[in-house]
This record gives sequence, structure tokens and C-alpha cells, in this order.
Amino acid sequence: MKVVIQDDAAQVAAYCADLIVRRIVARPAMVLGLATGATPLALYRELVAACRAGRVSFREVSTFNLDEYWGLPAVHPQSYRHFMDRHLFDHIDIDPVNTAVPRGDAANAAQACADYEAAIARKGGIDLQLLGIGRNGHIGFNEPFSSLRSRTRIKTLSRSTIADNARFFAAGEFQPHLAITMGIGTILESRTALLVATGAAKAAAIRAMVEGPVTASCPASALQLHERAVVVIDEAAASALTDVEFFKHIERENRRLENPGPGTPPH
Ligand code: F6R
Repeated sequence: MKVVIQDDAAQVAAYCADLIVRRIVARPAMVLGLATGATPLALYRELVAACRAGRVSFREVSTFNLDEYWGLPAVHPQSYRHFMDRHLFDHIDIDPVNTAVPRGDAANAAQACADYEAAIARKGGIDLQLLGIGRNGHIGFNEPFSSLRSRTRIKTLSRSTIADNARFFAAGEFQPHLAITMGIGTILESRTALLVATGAAKAAAIRAMVEGPVTASCPASALQLHERAVVVIDEAAASALTDVEFFKHIERENRRLENPGPGTPPH
């Protein structure tokens, strides 16, 4: 697991946007996995700015979102489809046909989940999957004790997740307690997993994910088994790690390896 520690949330967004832009420029028809939530918003603003400035085009990109509330139609203002249109898709040159978000109002849940997996497979799999992390260690809506090999399915949300997301719903408004989410097995098949987290509220979850055992108690810890997991966090989210300096040292060494200056001795 590569852990990149940036000074603040703005730098986290800029680092991740730059990484994604470079990947798209290298492979214009890439398959991008996306997340919702508060954390990626600054990153999405950076991607919109990069597209408007002509530094990247999403014309050939396909996207798959991690999850959707079960019970909300796509047009619902709290649906994740609506969130993605509002914060990203409406502002970039992507073909809407190539943007997939699980259907929260499908008549047949099992079929909708199987269809989502099949659609990902038809595109050749996900090149880069963006992830956030819940305070309880969830990725997507894979709550603690999810199977580490799970596939897209309907999940019951934990009480802490429902409480965390209540801020997005008006008092008395229907708030779903179920979600359709890619499984941990689905996420582990992405070629690169890029997890972003900012703020002290995520520090304990980050520590459990990076330093703890691989355990269904912290679903994000499954990323220790991912071949290419990159974790980009700010100082606050890194604050519970045992040895922050160690990760910073590795990052400096990685940069030296990527850009050896004249006279840099080989490692
Ligand atoms: C959203 C998702 C969730 C969030 C997580 C963090 O699509 O899959 O796992 O990434 O709940 O949410 P924020 O960023 O709001 O703290």
C-alpha cells in the first residue's frame, strides 16, 4: 500500500486530480471507478477545471460509480446519480451514455447487481477506482463484516453510516437504510485503487486500514491485498499513524526514483 501524505485537503485533491488526468492522457479510453461523498468534491472541481482548460478530455472515458441508495430513483435529489451529474458529469465532456451508477430503483435487485458486474466486465474491468473511507472503515457501502470477496449486492447500512449521511437529508425526508454497492471483491479487481481521506475524523479508520490486520471489521483493510493501492491523505487523516515520517521518507525516495537528477546514484 502506497501512502502519500499531503499538507491539507486542497493538496490531496490536486495530487489525485493530477494522477487521474495523467492516466487519462496516457489512456484516453480508460475505465474510471468513481465515489460520492464530501471528500472527492474538491477533486471533482479540479477535474472540471482541467477539462475546461483543455488539459484532459473525458470523451472516450467510461465511468462506474461504487454505489447508490437502494430505493431512490436516479432523478431523486439525494441519489448518487444526481450527485455525480451535478458535481462532475454535467461540467465535463464525457458522453452520459458512458457513465454508470447502480440503479437504486431496479425492479429486480439480483438482476441489477449481476448486470452491473457484467457491464464492468464488458468494458474490460476498472483501470482506476477512486474510493473514500467511512469512519467505520467502509469502502463503497461495504460495511464492517462484509465478505472480503463480495460482489455487487444490496447491503444494509450501519447505524454510524446512516447517522453520518443524515446531514444530506431534510428532517422527515425518507433516508434509505439500504444501498446497492460494488463488493470488496469487485473493488480489489480494479487495476489501481486510489483511496482519498481528509480530516481528523478519518484518522482512526486510516490507521486500522494501513496498520491493522486484514479483517472484515475494517473493510478498507482488504486494500492491503490489492496489488496497486494508493492512499492519499492529509496530515489530519494521517495523524494516528504510528510513523508518519516513514511514509514521507518513502514518498521522497519514490519521487527520486521517478525523477533521478543528474548524478543521482542508482539504488
Ligand atoms: C460513496 C462511498 C462511501 C464514501 C465514504 C466517505 O460513494 O462509497 O464509501 O466514500 O462514506 O464519505 P465522505 O467522503 O462523505 O466522508
